[in-house]
Amino acid sequence: MKILFVCLGNICRSPLAEELFRMHIANSGRSEYFTIDSCGTGNWHAGELPDPRTRKMAESKGVMLTHRARQLQATDFTEFDHLLVMDRNNYKNVCELNSQYAHKVALMTEFSVNYKGMEIPDPYYGDTFDFEKVHNLLHNVSLEIADYFKQQYR
Ligand code: 4NP
Repeated sequence: MKILFVCLGNICRSPLAEELFRMHIANSGRSEYFTIDSCGTGNWHAGELPDPRTRKMAESKGVMLTHRARQLQATDFTEFDHLLVMDRNNYKNVCELNSQYAHKVALMTEFSVNYKGMEIPDPYYGDTFDFEKVHNLLHNVSLEIADYFKQQYR
């Protein structure tokens, strides 16, 4: 199964969602069944490491982020089974790029029980508290959705 996490800049939310989800899948011994990646709808930060504030928060919790930002591309719609977005703006932008594959696009929280329908807020213009809130939210949601997706590979 191929899962792509998508946000706006691919430097704050989606690279962290990608790595936390990967860790949860690895902890369950199912890594071989998954291809996991992330990207952004925008290209302003292409090639960059995640935002220093995201990395600092992640590192304080033992998570190293080495992803390099990239923009969503046309082939992602055919290559991936699920394009999991962070908020409703991402959802709209991604669906408008290729409405034929809108059935593959969902809020990341759609596959969670406790956070279903919630958006992962953009922390870019926020403070340390916002980055911590996003980290904790992504930790919990990625754990729940890893539980959901791994059930298919018992
Ligand atoms: P992300 O956050 O979508 O979670 O990576 C943002 C990163 C950069 C910008 C906006 C949001 N930006 O405007 O450059």
